[in-house]
Amino acid sequence: MPESPRRPLDRFPRRELLAGAAALAGLTTVGLLPGTASAAGQRPGAARGPAPTPGDTAVTTRVSARRALRHLRVLSDDIGWRVTGTRREHRAAHYIAGTLRDLGYTVELQPFSVPDKKLAELRAGGEHWQSAAATLGAAGRAKGRVTDLGEATEVTADLTGRIALFTRVPGKEQAQAQAAAAKGARAVLIVNVRSTTYPERKAATFFPALEAPVQVPVLGLAEHHGELIREGVRALSLEVTAHTGLTSHNVIAERRATRPNPGGRAVIVGAHYDSVPGSPGGNDDGSGTALCLELARATRRLPTQQDLRFCLWGAEELGLVGARHYVKGLDDAAAARITGCFQNDMVATSHPAADTYWLLSVDGKPNTTTTAIAGAAERLGYTGRTKGPAARGSSDHEAFHERGIAAGNFSWRGEAPSQLEPVYHTPEDTVEGNISLERLQISLELIGCAAYDVALNG
Ligand code: BES
Ligand code: ZN
Repeated sequence: MPESPRRPLDRFPRRELLAGAAALAGLTTVGLLPGTASAAGQRPGAARGPAPTPGDTAVTTRVSARRALRHLRVLSDDIGWRVTGTRREHRAAHYIAGTLRDLGYTVELQPFSVPDKKLAELRAGGEHWQSAAATLGAAGRAKGRVTDLGEATEVTADLTGRIALFTRVPGKEQAQAQAAAAKGARAVLIVNVRSTTYPERKAATFFPALEAPVQVPVLGLAEHHGELIREGVRALSLEVTAHTGLTSHNVIAERRATRPNPGGRAVIVGAHYDSVPGSPGGNDDGSGTALCLELARATRRLPTQQDLRFCLWGAEELGLVGARHYVKGLDDAAAARITGCFQNDMVATSHPAADTYWLLSVDGKPNTTTTAIAGAAERLGYTGRTKGPAARGSSDHEAFHERGIAAGNFSWRGEAPSQLEPVYHTPEDTVEGNISLERLQISLELIGCAAYDVALNG
């Protein structure tokens, strides 16, 4: 996606990294870059010195946020919007499956159906954006100059040949779209507004809920795209595509235990690789996906008593569809063999206030996964930076919890678990704007050491 030009890797978040490290513990510089910290020394961003087990050291000497970042750039910068069932989500699935196969894993692509949808791509100058489009609006192309009608719900001006731009008035989308179409507009763009529940979050793209068909395309734009248009886009072109008969996939990669495993037990490390429309899903959840790929590499030859399974879910943003499909396909014996599912969702934001690594379980109670993370945090010296377990679902761990499997969700958030970065679910969730290498490294180490501890000893 041309929206965020690539920066050279070595220039990437060095400034932020150093500032973060200095603020945390007065740490010196070069030796603390992720992936270069000494295994015996203090971890980057840790509050105090570590007491690692040999298993921890095997993980922390191997995992590197910089390596994970290469995967994240492919997923978020190159592939971009990974909306479930679309071509770009498929490209991501194939990239993930290929990477894991090359690492020696046995990989299965598990298909399932997902609902039809209309999506739009817009071009203005050199920009290329995606937005959601109303099911009851038209598909096809439109091109024209933009007329900004603000919060109007009635239109008197002639809009022949124009693209009408509105600010969303919730509940009035039908009136806005119909009024503009009746005055000759070629397409209708409705810019989303923030919710009253989370006013600090920028508004994402949305599917305008029309009550009756409108004869032109009707798009629900993210606040960011509305801002960019209003800052000086005079004309644009767009195309709405009706996506039907869609299939999404879970990517399931397994590596058998190297030691006797008579119970056939397995540890799952997972993330979802789809993103919401319009968002390149840098932190949500390119970060968790990249973490899984790097951890799969780092642990592939380490001895274990349990199988290690890396699961990358499709269609999470649609309502945990991929993870629920997977869990449904397990018979009771297979479900009972899973000792825990470590779910990684939003594990690297650079939003300054999201400085707490949260341990979340659906019921708020500790389980194998949250206890293993708390133990790893203690051993690595990260306890001051973690909170929980606290109660929260709304990500793939919920599917496992519902089936009676120990599961936790792990992510960087603010003081309260509801405090997410302002660019959550928006086009601005980019590698350049929303990824901290330092936090990604801590996430890699915590998940790596905890999951490996369970796989080796548990
Ligand atoms: N990554 C988000 C938010 C999140 C992270 C929730 C970690 C819980 C733990 C997730 O992808 C998301 O957007 N979830 C939806 C609900 C889901 C059922 C579609 C949400 O929170 O609105
Ligand atoms: Zn997510």
